[in-house]
Amino acid sequence: MLLVLLSLAALCWGAVPPEPTIQCGSEPGPSPEWMVRHTLTPGDLRDLRVEPIKSSVDLEDSSILMNISWILRADASIRLLKATKICVMGKSHFQSRSCIRCNYTQAFHTQTRPSGGKWTFSYIGFPVELNTVYFIGAHNIPNANMNEDGPSMAVNFTSPGCLDHLMKYKKKCIEAGSLWKPNITACKKTANTVEVNFTTSPLGDRYMALIQNTSVIGTSYVSEKELTRTSVVVHVTGESEGAVVQLTPYFHTCGNDCIRQRGTVMRCPQTGVSPQDHERSVLGGWLPLLLSALLVATWVLVAGIYLIWRHERIKKTSFSTTTLLPSLKVLVVYPSEICFHHIVCYFTEFLQNRCRSEVILEKWQKKKIAEMGPVQWLTTQKQAADKVIFLLSNDNTMCDGTCDKKEGGPCENSQDLFHLAFNLFCSDLRSQTHLRKYVVVYFREGDIKDSYSALSVCPTYRLMKDATDFCAELLHAKQHVSVGRRSRARHYSCLSL
Ligand SMILES: *[C@@H]1O[C@H](CO)[C@@H](O)[C@H](O)[C@H]1NC(C)=O
Ligand SMILES: *[C@@H]1O[C@H](CO)[C@@H](O)[C@H](O)[C@H]1NC(C)=O
Ligand SMILES: *[C@@H]1O[C@H](CO)[C@@H](O)[C@H](O)[C@H]1NC(C)=O
Ligand SMILES: *[C@@H]1O[C@H](CO)[C@@H](O)[C@H](O)[C@H]1NC(C)=O
Ligand SMILES: *[C@@H]1O[C@H](CO)[C@@H](O)[C@H](O)[C@H]1NC(C)=O
Ligand SMILES: *[C@@H]1O[C@H](CO)[C@@H](O)[C@H](O)[C@H]1NC(C)=O
Repeated sequence: MLLVLLSLAALCWGAVPPEPTIQCGSEPGPSPEWMVRHTLTPGDLRDLRVEPIKSSVDLEDSSILMNISWILRADASIRLLKATKICVMGKSHFQSRSCIRCNYTQAFHTQTRPSGGKWTFSYIGFPVELNTVYFIGAHNIPNANMNEDGPSMAVNFTSPGCLDHLMKYKKKCIEAGSLWKPNITACKKTANTVEVNFTTSPLGDRYMALIQNTSVIGTSYVSEKELTRTSVVVHVTGESEGAVVQLTPYFHTCGNDCIRQRGTVMRCPQTGVSPQDHERSVLGGWLPLLLSALLVATWVLVAGIYLIWRHERIKKTSFSTTTLLPSLKVLVVYPSEICFHHIVCYFTEFLQNRCRSEVILEKWQKKKIAEMGPVQWLTTQKQAADKVIFLLSNDNTMCDGTCDKKEGGPCENSQDLFHLAFNLFCSDLRSQTHLRKYVVVYFREGDIKDSYSALSVCPTYRLMKDATDFCAELLHAKQHVSVGRRSRARHYSCLSL
């Protein structure tokens, strides 16, 4: 009896078909079902989702993949369903498109899973690149007939940049410093110095430490080949406690476009009489206490006199630097392919801090340009400026990865202004005196592009290689500016944009 029951159960068990699973493979072209006419076709998907995941196989650069999951609609047409086709189109510098087809290993006999719940599948594949918009489309097979609108579903997915917790493991991000932990500590040493300590990286040997509260109040460069904890003192021109310290590395593969790190300037720990010393002096009786009190009093007196004296001196020197150095006005124009935040900001800070110049940028005068019109604005600024700098770069891909695309990305409309400035320059070509105003600055190695070849008559500098010569050229122009002609240069900060 028991045996009969058991075999019956086994029979029933065997009658239940196994659940469908998927088998996926690449199918770049149209599906073979496309060529055949179908009177009945399955409906569309109920849901389609995409999320990036880190693949367990460490394939270096393709380690971030898409997990594409979809839910089938629970209706009668599910019986006709044979496969689902998914195509992914990526759009960054170039377009890419690839498709996979996932065959269901069994026909669907029920609209939902035998265990309840909707039929859900997921496919892991399609490597995810940095800062790319992906359009993911899916449709069921057999698909609708030719010239008929088939049901399909599409979603968008925008991949993040190197700061993302998953993307930071991509090779390109690692090379830009995504895994570098400088562990910055900074403290206000005196009224006008800040001590910055950080751990260097094996990726490069040059760094810039910059202190800013609302504007940049000090910068300093560090060269350190060894992998070590390094210390640098930055001279500042304002209140530094609570200010931001930004560390810009210049690594071999990312140049000026590496990932920057930030920290906060604290108050330096006071080195004074510790409680232990105090206790000992109390225990030691009256005489030592009296003596030490006397000593402290003298020390305080001396320190006070010294502080007052130094304060006076600082007041004098800072007064003299602001009045003696005339500010030089420079107008900076750049083509739209230059990444604003990384290149133009860096360059502006360099001009303001290292060459003591007042910088005129289209970006900061949007309202004025709108009022005056670009031609009028440019002509006025060109006349007012001591130098007009064409900031160029040969590398159009430098904005990839770590650049902030939202604000000041490469697609900004600075192209028109750059062309206008270039045309103005061309009309000045005949006059030597006018030509002296123009300077070309390059951020990467290379020759001037053919379209701007007229600029080759101007003095050309490459940063940071020719930084000293470049500043000297500006200083030379500065000598012709009479002292006190101008009010103090206003310092703009890229942070406040
Ligand atoms: C899926 O089915 C189609 C048509 O039967 C076949 O051409 C294709 O090779 C199958 N793909 C996979 C990955 O099994
Ligand atoms: C892929 O996504 C699906 C649906 O969200 C989830 O069930 C599955 O576990 C994910 N796979 C991996 C490997 O994370
Ligand atoms: C995807 O993005 C494009 C452009 O941003 C937009 O036009 C489209 O409606 C989006 N599609 C979906 C399904 O979100
Ligand atoms: C960072 O530096 C401080 C001071 O040198 C040290 O105490 C701390 O342990 C360091 N943290 C890490 C994560 O290395
Ligand atoms: C920097 O390092 C020096 C030497 O190790 C140390 O004396 C100083 O306190 C450190 N400063 C900060 C701000 O961490
Ligand atoms: C920033 O520095 C300026 C210039 O010294 C100072 O006047 C201002 O109080 C500082 N701001 C903050 C928030 O510390």
